[in-house]
Amino acid sequence: MNRRNEKQLIVGLDIGTSKVLVVVGEVQPGEPIEVIGIGSHITRGLKRGAVVDIESTMHSIRSAVEEAELMAGCEIRAVHASISGSHLETLNSHGTAAIRDHEVSATDIEAVLDAASAVAIPADRKLLYKEPQEYRIDGQDGIRRPVGMSGVRLEANVHLVTGAASAVQNLAKCIERCGIQVDALIPAAIASARAVLTDDERELGVCLVDIGAGTTDIAIFAQGAIRHTRALPVGGDQVTNDIAFGIHTPTSNAEEIKIKYACALPQMASTEETVQVPSVGDRPPRRLARQALAQCVHDRYEEIFEMVQDELRRSALDNLISAGVVLTGGSVPMEGALELAEEVFHKMVRIGRPQLQGGKAEAVCGVTHSVAVGLVLHGMRSEATVSGSGVDRAIDRLRAWLNKNF
Ligand SMILES: Nc1ncnc2c1ncn2[C@@H]1O[C@H](COP(=O)(O)OP(=O)(O)OP(=O)(O)O)[C@@H](O)[C@H]1O
Ligand SMILES: [Mg+2]
Repeated sequence: MNRRNEKQLIVGLDIGTSKVLVVVGEVQPGEPIEVIGIGSHITRGLKRGAVVDIESTMHSIRSAVEEAELMAGCEIRAVHASISGSHLETLNSHGTAAIRDHEVSATDIEAVLDAASAVAIPADRKLLYKEPQEYRIDGQDGIRRPVGMSGVRLEANVHLVTGAASAVQNLAKCIERCGIQVDALIPAAIASARAVLTDDERELGVCLVDIGAGTTDIAIFAQGAIRHTRALPVGGDQVTNDIAFGIHTPTSNAEEIKIKYACALPQMASTEETVQVPSVGDRPPRRLARQALAQCVHDRYEEIFEMVQDELRRSALDNLISAGVVLTGGSVPMEGALELAEEVFHKMVRIGRPQLQGGKAEAVCGVTHSVAVGLVLHGMRSEATVSGSGVDRAIDRLRAWLNKNF
C-alpha cells in the first residue's frame, strides 16, 4: 500500500495482450475515489492473455509504472493486477460454519468462506479469487450481509476462480521482478465488470463481455452475484490477422485499415466505397471494396459473439440475464459491432465504460480502461473489507474476554 500526504493510494495494473495500463487512485475516507496517475505502454510479451516473454513484459510494466509514478508524484510499491487467459477456470462452491456467540461476526464470515474454498485443487492449479454469492443462516437463504445477524449455522455459496500455476507464477514474476508487490491477481472479467456494470444490471442478470486484443473475458451475473467467469482465447488480434491474410497486406497496415475503415456489418458499407490497401513487398497498392473488408471483419466478430453465446448456454444462465449484454474492451468501438451482437444474442446490448468522477477521471473513461479502473475499485473494496474485519475481529476478542470474565 502506498501513502502520499496520509491519503491511501490504490494502484490497478492491467497487463493486457496489447498494452499495460496503470491507474493510480487516491482514496480518502467517505470520499469517492480520485484518479491521480495513469501510465501505459504497448506489450509484445503476451499472447492471448498469457506471458510468453518475461523480459519484454517487464519492460512494458516498468515503463507504464514510471509514467504513472511521474504523473501521480508517488512511488508504486504494490498493485492489484489483472490476469487472463484460457487457463482460468471457475467453480461455484458451498461451505458451512458454526456461528460463534450466536451472532455473525467477521471471523465467522472468514471461517465459512475458508470452508467453501477448501476444495481439492490439483497441484498444477492455483486458487486466485473467491467471492461470496449469498449466505444462508439456519435455513433462511438469500442473505447478502450477514454480519450482526443472529443464528447458529452459517452457510455460504462462493464463486472460485483458479488458474494454471505456471501462468500465474510467470505473471507474478514479471511484476515482482520490477520491485512491485502483488496485492492481488484479479480475473480481468471480474475487474472490468466492477468498473462498468450497474447494481441494477447485476440484480436483473447481465453478461459482461470485454473484447481485447488477445482474449474475450466474460463475467455473468444473476441475482446480484457473480455466477460464471471465462476467458476465451480470441480478440481483436485475430480480426487484424484475418484482414492481413484476407486482403494480402502486412499486419501493421491491416491494424490501421481495421481501425480506420472496417465495420462489422457488410450492409453498413455501400457497394461503391473502396479503400487503398498497401501490398506486401514492392507490389503497388490496390483499391479494395469496403464491403469485402466488412465481410472479413463480420465473420470474426460473429464467431466471437457465438462463442460467448455458447458459454452462456453451457453455464445455463442464458435465460437469467434480463439486463442483456454489456460490451467493453478495445475491440468494441468497431462500427456495427453492437448491432451484430444484438442479432446474435437476441438481447439488449450496450457499450459499457468506466464511470468515475473528478480528478483525471475523463482520461480513464474509455472502453480500454475498464479493467484497470475495476482493479482500483476492487482494491478499494478489499482494503475496506480488510480494515473492517480487523476492527470486527478486535471487537470479537473483546466480547469473548468480557463474556469469560464478567
Ligand atoms: N476503433 C477500433 N475498432 C476496432 N478495434 C479496435 C479499435 N481500436 C482498437 N482496437 C483493437 O482493440 C484491441 C486492444 O484492446 P484492449 O486494449 O482492450 O486489449 P488488451 O487489454 O491489451 O488485451 P487483452 O485484454 O485481450 O489481453 C486491439 O486488437 C485493437 O486492434
Ligand atoms: Mg484487456
